Amino acid sequence: MDDFRNEHVLPSIMKNTPIDYQTVKREIRETGLPEIGKGTIREIVRLVNRIEEETGEKYVRMEMGVPGLEPVKIGIEAEIDALKQGVASKYPMIEGVRELKDEMSRFAKLFLDIDIKPEGCIPTVGSMMASMAMYLVANRSDRTKEGTLFIDPGFPVHKQQVRILGHDYRSFDIYDYRGDKLRDKLASYLESGKVSTIMYSNPNNPSWICFTEKELQIIGELATRHDVIVVEDLAYFGMDFRVDFSKPGEPPYQPTVAKYNENYLILFSSSKIFSYAGQRVGVMLISDTLFNRKYPDLKRYYTSDTFGYSIIFGALYALSAGVTHSAQLGLAAMLKAANDGEYNFVEGVKEYGEKAKIMKRMFVENGFRIVYDRDEDKPLADGFFFTISYPGMTGSDLLEKLLYYGISAISLYITGSERNEGIRACVSLVSRNQFKDLEYRLNRFHEDHS
Ligand SMILES: Cc1ncc(COP(=O)(O)O)c(C=O)c1O
Repeated sequence: MDDFRNEHVLPSIMKNTPIDYQTVKREIRETGLPEIGKGTIREIVRLVNRIEEETGEKYVRMEMGVPGLEPVKIGIEAEIDALKQGVASKYPMIEGVRELKDEMSRFAKLFLDIDIKPEGCIPTVGSMMASMAMYLVANRSDRTKEGTLFIDPGFPVHKQQVRILGHDYRSFDIYDYRGDKLRDKLASYLESGKVSTIMYSNPNNPSWICFTEKELQIIGELATRHDVIVVEDLAYFGMDFRVDFSKPGEPPYQPTVAKYNENYLILFSSSKIFSYAGQRVGVMLISDTLFNRKYPDLKRYYTSDTFGYSIIFGALYALSAGVTHSAQLGLAAMLKAANDGEYNFVEGVKEYGEKAKIMKRMFVENGFRIVYDRDEDKPLADGFFFTISYPGMTGSDLLEKLLYYGISAISLYITGSERNEGIRACVSLVSRNQFKDLEYRLNRFHEDHS
């Protein structure tokens, strides 16, 4: 009955859409979600899979951050060799294999210009597990503190991890607090004395803002003043393509809070820089100071009061007791090739930036606006993600309406952004031969809604 009524009040343009209107509408209704525009990434993926199957039409899929490139072969070959040599039968040490720890420490020196001993470079099952283990220890290091402060927008699963652990969190959207304005805003949270960890990603998922040196300095200094651990997620290492971070041991280096703080933990992921997401291998880099630091309150949960020891023999032991042997050796080989100057990981992923530039232009020419568009005084880099809005629509409306035009994305709402008008577009799965379709669909969308 409801449907019948709706059909009669909808303007006719809504029924003549590039993807069959009735099918999209029915599939949206069948998700059972009260508002599809606020669906999680995986919910949108499932919905679009179903519509594609039913209609036979291919979407311009921008909802999920899957690497759209081939995995780096050096890693695969090293894994095959390792397996042939019989590593599958052996439990890997939880702290990681020597080759990986050494190459990660070298990589930190050569591409971040920081010193971290191999003992603090600990493999994890993707960066996802590193953050989980980190919360389990860092957010329990001081009984008077309550949890994480997220500098948003951010990766929604991090908040899910904190929530399911029963930790508290706070967050704010950086949009209005760039540059010097960040100082007072950040201080207003840290002065409560309740923050255990500050977390952000850089380049940022979803907005692709890149923190400036000034901002990193502010974060580092305030964290020191209030004795808070800084967690820097470098899942998109080196991908601010405005600057060439690809030369080992030569400036410029990937910016990091490590220059301004001693109690930091960096999350390194192989998923994007080596297109290695399927092997689920990352590394947690714990500063030498933090690794050896003693927090008496850790004894509530762990046998030791030392941070590094609790991460390895407390959290990681309980989570998976180590990381697949061959995946560690594969990552070690890729890092070694980068360290030796034999593999240029920035060149390997530059395609993302080039596609983003073309796609952003198409959106802007069709009435869209870029939401997060500057790093202080500089225009934003082109990279893995960008954020867009369309005049007069909320992000949630926009996401839903674009589905009828064969374009999928996620709403910024689920990322902690206060820019409710925005959606996040991910370029990785869009192939260049879909650009014509994208342009046509955006044209149609603009004609129908302007
Ligand atoms: C900001 C950020 N952190 C962490 C991850 C997860 O990385 P991994 O695949 O290494 O678990 C992602 C993946 O999309 C991400 O965007």
